[in-house]
Amino acid sequence: MKTVDIVELLLTAELYNRYEHLTEDDLPKKIRKLFWNHGDGKIQRPLAVTLEHIKNYTGMDGEETLKDLPFIDINRFNGQCRITVLDVGSKWYLKNADVEKIELNPVLAYHYENYDSVEVSYARAREKNLPKESDREWLSALISKLEEDEDTSDMLKLVKVVSPEDVRVTFDDIVLSPEQREEISKIEIAIRNRDYLREIGLYDIGKLLFIGPPGTGKTSTARALSSKLFIPLVEVKLSMITSQYLGETSKNIERVFELAKKLSPCILFIDEFDYVAKTRTSDEHAAVKRAVNTLLKAIDEINLVEDGVLLIAATNHPQLLDQAAWRRFDNVLEFPIPDLELRRKILEKILYRVKGDFDINRVAEKTDGFTGADLRLVVREAVLSSLLNGKKEISQADLEISIEDVRKRLVLRGGD
Ligand SMILES: Nc1ncnc2c1ncn2[C@@H]1O[C@H](COP(=O)(O)OP(=O)(O)OP(=O)(O)O)[C@@H](O)[C@H]1O
Ligand SMILES: [Mg+2]
Repeated sequence: MKTVDIVELLLTAELYNRYEHLTEDDLPKKIRKLFWNHGDGKIQRPLAVTLEHIKNYTGMDGEETLKDLPFIDINRFNGQCRITVLDVGSKWYLKNADVEKIELNPVLAYHYENYDSVEVSYARAREKNLPKESDREWLSALISKLEEDEDTSDMLKLVKVVSPEDVRVTFDDIVLSPEQREEISKIEIAIRNRDYLREIGLYDIGKLLFIGPPGTGKTSTARALSSKLFIPLVEVKLSMITSQYLGETSKNIERVFELAKKLSPCILFIDEFDYVAKTRTSDEHAAVKRAVNTLLKAIDEINLVEDGVLLIAATNHPQLLDQAAWRRFDNVLEFPIPDLELRRKILEKILYRVKGDFDINRVAEKTDGFTGADLRLVVREAVLSSLLNGKKEISQADLEISIEDVRKRLVLRGGD
């Protein structure tokens, strides 16, 4: 980092304070991340930059670096730094930074768009800058605020909230069929064009049901969507909400949906969705029945276009769902057991960085009925057992032995 980066920080803060209609989404991600210390999901104005911010951001000593720049004032008591003569500061920055840098900062782009000599576009800068919900710091500030409140703190124990910055899975890791990919693209487009969909009154979009046997990539796909769309993922297992505080179940369901709305735009991922059905067919007592109705009603009332919540439910047992549950979803995405071609592609991904002498085609042929998760297991076992023998390479034989081991487990697992 250089002096010009410190001036960018100070200039951005000064302009952000002056142009009051600019929002958090106009602040460049790297700068915004310094200021998420309030739990209300907002960055307070005025933005005050201190020597400490400068140190954290650039690793440089602000006092030393800025001492020759006359348009900057440093308050010796509280360490606050600011640009006092905006015009001079703006010109200095323009002379010392290149235009590409300005276009990575919507606040600056907005400011310089009116300078005749500068070719920048605010709209382009906005497009390049990731929105606030992609920041880990934004999410944790909101969460800690919710933790202070007794009503919401309990509910946080039932869900797992992950920032897209912390999601480890991407679509590069998952092999999808062309149909699956097409559905995923539609959802991406819908999220990016929410305003348009609202304008034309198209609301029945953004409720997906993922069906398929265990280990076929349902959870991974929901996570990859979060990292692709840069929006948080709220994960909840239906069995958790319904068992932990039975009686409170209806309340918990409502709270989970409220939470999702607070964190919007986000993905609400409801796993083990068939739990709804189980409770319906067993001896249903009043509380469970009420909970199921609450859930179905909550699903009806939440909406991607208006609330910014993409709802994804997943189940291994779609046959258990009744019509009332099915019709809540506007799209069903199947995750079948992969065929030969998909197995080969999955193996290519998993074995991409593994060294050794093996034939992926043959492994694919010998693993009929295996899911993506099973294939991962095969490779893991082969890698571990060759490590045990002091080798950092695997052979075809290693893989075939572990195929048989995993097959035995599949037989034990039975019915799935
Ligand atoms: N199509 C696939 N491509 C690449 N990897 C896959 C695929 N399907 C599954 N896997 C791997 O298998 C593991 C388990 O997948 P995941 O947890 O997404 O399955 P799931 O469908 O959610 O299973 P469950 O129904 O048990 O929750 C992951 O590590 C994932 O990488
Ligand atoms: Mg899963």
